[in-house]
Amino acid sequence: DRVIKVGLCGFGVVGQGVFNHLQKRENDLSDQLGAKVEVARIAVRDTSKKRDFDFDSSILTTDPLSIASDPEIDVVCELMGGTGIALDVTLEALKAGKVVVTANKALICDHGEAVFAAAEQGGGQILFEASVAGGIPVIKAIKDGLVINRFSSIYGILNGTCNYILTRMTNEGASYQDILVEAKELGYAEADESLDVDGIDTAHKAVVLAYLAYGRWVPYKDILVQGIAEVTQEDIAFAKENDYAIKLLATMDVAHASGKLYISILPTLVSKKYVLGSVDGVFNAVSIHGDVVGETVYIGPGAGRDATASAVIADVVDAAKLLVAGGSQFVDPAPRGGERIELAEPEEIKS
Ligand code: NAP
Ligand code: HSE
Repeated sequence: DRVIKVGLCGFGVVGQGVFNHLQKRENDLSDQLGAKVEVARIAVRDTSKKRDFDFDSSILTTDPLSIASDPEIDVVCELMGGTGIALDVTLEALKAGKVVVTANKALICDHGEAVFAAAEQGGGQILFEASVAGGIPVIKAIKDGLVINRFSSIYGILNGTCNYILTRMTNEGASYQDILVEAKELGYAEADESLDVDGIDTAHKAVVLAYLAYGRWVPYKDILVQGIAEVTQEDIAFAKENDYAIKLLATMDVAHASGKLYISILPTLVSKKYVLGSVDGVFNAVSIHGDVVGETVYIGPGAGRDATASAVIADVVDAAKLLVAGGSQFVDPAPRGGERIELAEPEEIKS
């Protein structure tokens, strides 16, 4: 049988989850693919750190670029985060014609155009299901399942950490700071948690969804962003009294009159009678209004080791299928004619 060799760049919360489930389902995957999926190399910063699963430490390196350029490696999983070494590794691997799987929304938001161009030039492929809404396969939904639709709006609870904090503040009156510490311990928060609570991570994910839905790279500066740090217990009490919940909501709306796309990330009062108002804890939800299908809603765990590993592995399996079939040709995930859509400025959104 063919062996598909995977290089994991990053062996933290997500990387170890991917490793664990690839090991546990090795036989299932071999049966499904007619090929063995093997984690052949792993890059970390600190090789002496204790890890949560047993593995052969001889496959460790502190040089992720050596995995990106290794001719033996078929699929590179970029699970380090950030836009420094993560970008270098991604571009190097794509240049070498490999498939790159990433969970990194900051990378796709800030460098999506360059990354897609590198994939096209190198004949590789970039897959990023885990970058938005953790374990919910929302990227596949927009790209494939809803392909015939034009979208009038997308509403999303896209950050597990923020929804976890807001839910616990609401249900238990727990303190913002204490729950944030817990969200970090549970592996939900980013290495720099200000990305979560300041709404930046949600904005990164909104840019990725907007690209898929509208075919345009929206500059981050054109999004109105406010996080949850200023949400008070008084705000929460007011929401509860009126049968609402406060959610950090990403809103993408195409205005009827102007046809312009408005994108904002704001703490928002959402009615408990509406499905998104009752999505609690680390769960995320995305409501998508398509002109052919109507409204579809996707709910599930938005962060954490296993949920994110599930999405990363879905991409690894897609990569393996491409490779078994004989090629990893780049395919633009959003050939949607983005020139149709004009963007509204943040000042227009505020007014
Ligand atoms: P993490 O636990 O901090 O793990 C990061 C890993 O990358 C660690 O193993 C670290 O090595 C390694 N690393 C960092 N810089 C490196 C370098 N220069 N060279 C070699 N290795 C390096 O982060 P995570 O939570 O798994 O997140 C990884 C990515 O997934 C991020 O893009 C994040 O936004 C995304 N994501 C996370 C979640 C989640 O729930 N956590 C969900 C969806 C998406 P050491 O272990 O030696 O420090
Ligand atoms: N820190 C992110 C969150 C991880 O809490 O949603 C998932 O992208």
